[in-house]
This record gives sequence, C-alpha cells and structure tokens, in this order.
Amino acid sequence: MTRIVILASGSGSNAENIIKYFKNSNLISVVQILCNKKDAKVFERAKRLEINSLYFDRAMLNDSDVILNLLKNTADYVILAGFLWKIPSKIIKAFPNKIINIHPALLPKYGGKGMYGMHVHNAVVANKETETGITIHYVNENYDEGAIIFQERFNVLPSDSANDVAEKIHELEYKYFPKVIEEVILGH
Ligand code: GRF
Repeated sequence: MTRIVILASGSGSNAENIIKYFKNSNLISVVQILCNKKDAKVFERAKRLEINSLYFDRAMLNDSDVILNLLKNTADYVILAGFLWKIPSKIIKAFPNKIINIHPALLPKYGGKGMYGMHVHNAVVANKETETGITIHYVNENYDEGAIIFQERFNVLPSDSANDVAEKIHELEYKYFPKVIEEVILGH
C-alpha cells in the first residue's frame, strides 16, 4: 500500500476529494493530514472522514526534524493541497520526486510567493487573461518552479468574475488532481 500524507493550510476541499478518491483503493491510501493553521477547515473534514490530522508550526517544520521524521515514518508520497509554506530542502531531499503540488494557474504564469487562492484569480481577471487553468507539479526548493506533471486549461470569459474563475478552477482540480496523483504513483 502506497501511503500519502497531505499538507494543507485552508479549507481542504482538495484534501477531501483526494481522500474520497482513494477510499476504496487497495493500492493507495491517505494516512494523515498535516496542517499549519489551527483554525483551518481541513481539520473538520479530517474528523468527519476519520483521517488522522495534526497541527504543526514553523519550528516543527524548519528548526527541528519533527515533520521530516514524521513524514519519513508515515509517507511514501507528500501531496500539497493548498499548503502555503515553502517545503524545506531537507524534506525535498528525503522525498525526491515524491512531493506533488497543485497550483490554480498555468505556471510559470501567476506563480511564486504570495500567489495563491483568490490573489491568483483576481490577477488573472484584472489582466484580462483569455485563458487560465491548473498546474500539477513536483515540488523543489523554489515556490511553484518544480517540473510540471500536468496542466489543464479553460477560456476565461469577459464576463467571468474572479469567483467564477475560482469555481471553474476547483472543478478542474477535483476532476484531475487525484487521477494525476494515481498515475504518478502507479507509474502509468
Ligand atoms: C486550491 O485552489 C489550490 O490550487 C491552491 O489552493 C487552493 C486550496 O483549496 N493551491 P482547498 O483548501 O483545497 O479547498
């Protein structure tokens, strides 16, 4: 059984979608959710879905090996689903091509520090982009710069608000993220 640990910072709708996708799999299972925000909605989802979850702070991630050792003992793959902090290089080295993130834009556009959630969709609409989409990529030492695994795009209508774009992005994320994770893990 390939074990997935999900890192999230917010609502956790992607985490829930991934957990449900692998619920009946006998090859892949989500074993834990790690979150760096005490009041994040993802904890509610984890409780309801009976998935182990843990809050951690910056010191546990960067200044000690608490999270590194926890991941080494519990995970084969680390999935970032709305996780906002940078992953320290000691964890990236411990999980070569085993850390996967989803970004709500067509990288390399609208990526980097501070470019997350509605900040991305507001910028896409403000710049009158005619298309946007999702990017699933491996995680390296630089925000949103790891090798791209998968992208899916859609046309932005002149009438689309940032919330419309956010909704269409979530639809793509829920449709593709679990499938792409499965393809990477099962190697096809
Ligand atoms: C997603 O749109 C993801 O692309 C981005 O953050 C958002 C997280 O949403 N990195 P949720 O917490 O999974 O609902």
